[in-house]
Formats: sequence, structure tokens, C-alpha cells
Amino acid sequence: MMRIDVLSLFPEMFKAVFEQSILKKAADSGSVSYDVTNFRDYAENKHQRVDDYLYGGGAGMLLMAQPIFDAVAALRKRSDSKPRIVMMTPQGERYQQRHAENLAKEDHLIFLCGHYEGFDERIREQLVTDEISIGDYVLTGGELASMVVIDSVVRLLPGVLGNETSAHTDSFSNGLLEHPQYTRPADFRGLKVPDALISGNHALVDEWRHKESLRRTYLRRPDLLSDRDITEQEAKWLEE
Ligand code: ADE
Repeated sequence: MMRIDVLSLFPEMFKAVFEQSILKKAADSGSVSYDVTNFRDYAENKHQRVDDYLYGGGAGMLLMAQPIFDAVAALRKRSDSKPRIVMMTPQGERYQQRHAENLAKEDHLIFLCGHYEGFDERIREQLVTDEISIGDYVLTGGELASMVVIDSVVRLLPGVLGNETSAHTDSFSNGLLEHPQYTRPADFRGLKVPDALISGNHALVDEWRHKESLRRTYLRRPDLLSDRDITEQEAKWLEE
């Protein structure tokens, strides 16, 4: 079972994702457990402050080292395995499916979410194993970003997705975008499902899907094709 801890000043935000749908089912079935800790509870000063002004001056506040160091120490004690400690920050490595696959192998993840402000550099230096950005834009806090990462990791855990194959055939896992998909009826107000898909010929269906995945990737995300080896067959299709 994977253990996921989150350190956040706004623990209530996580109910929106941990208590619904697949992430909830994953916890109910014992694939994962979630725990959200408000690190304000670890602040040693009497007003439970977690932030302070910048040395050297400047606008804004920074999260102090002490509450986060002590909250992480407490979480480490509760688990036998060595956790990955993930800081959510726009300065981190840009998050990709391969990062999700890598995190999904761990036993224990701890997510650090800042709000409004940055972190004292000593948190990065001493505690953090991974810094992740979910994209080149700035959020008000790391909470939403951590939820994105957690969602993408939990769906990869064994037994979480009902259909075992669906995590492997979806966009990105083979380096291509997913092909177009259709469900009944075969003719919706004159709009027809492609012949190959209703042919009943598996080889034809597979070829059609592979070709359409490639076409879609070429048109929408050519950058993905430059990161991936192209087979001889795919090269021929691209020439068509
Ligand atoms: N915190 C604020 N913006 C962020 C982003 N883009 N990714 C991760 N954490 C963040």
C-alpha cells in the first residue's frame, strides 16, 4: 500500500479529491492511504506563525524552516520506508507522465504545498528530494498542483483502474496521443463511425487506431514525435 502525506495550510481543500471517485475507491480498497497535515500545528512560536520576512528585504513572506522540518520529522517516524519529499513549485522540473510512473513505484510520498509565498531555501537543501512544477503558470498555492500529481500517480497503482489495460493504452504511455474513439450508434444523425472499426477485423482495427494516433500526434503535438523513435511502418504512414 502506498502512503501519501500532504503538508498544507489548507487541509480542507483535499476533501474535494480524496473523498470522491477513483481516488476514494483506491483508499477504500487499500491501494493507498492519504493523510493531510496542517504544518501550522508544528509552529513553535506562540502565535503559530509559519512565515516571516525576507532577509535582505523585499516584498512578500517566506515559509519558515522550523514548522516544516518538524512536521516532516513527525511523518518520517510514522513510516518504515524512506519517503520521497516532493515540493510543489513553479521552479521545479516540469511534470510529465514519466514522472508519474516513477513516483508510482514508491512506498511513501510527502508533498509540501506552499501558499502565496515561497519556501526558506534550507527546506529545499535539507529535506526535499523532488521539486515539481505542473506547468509554466503560477498558482496561488501548491495544493492544486499536488492534487494533479497525486491523481496521476494513484491511477497507476496496481488494481486502481478497473480495466487493467486502460492506464497502458491511454495518451502518452506509448508516446502518442490517443486515437479517436466511438460508441453506439454506428450512424448518429448521418454521422458515421469509420468502417475499419465496425469491420470486426482486429488487425484492421489495430492498424486504423495506430495510424490515427500517429496522425493526431503529428498534427497536434509534433514535439512528442521528436522525443520518440519512429518505426519504418510509421514513417510510411506519415508520408501518406
Ligand atoms: N505552485 C504555484 N504554482 C505552481 C505550479 N505551476 N506548479 C507547481 N506548484 C506551484
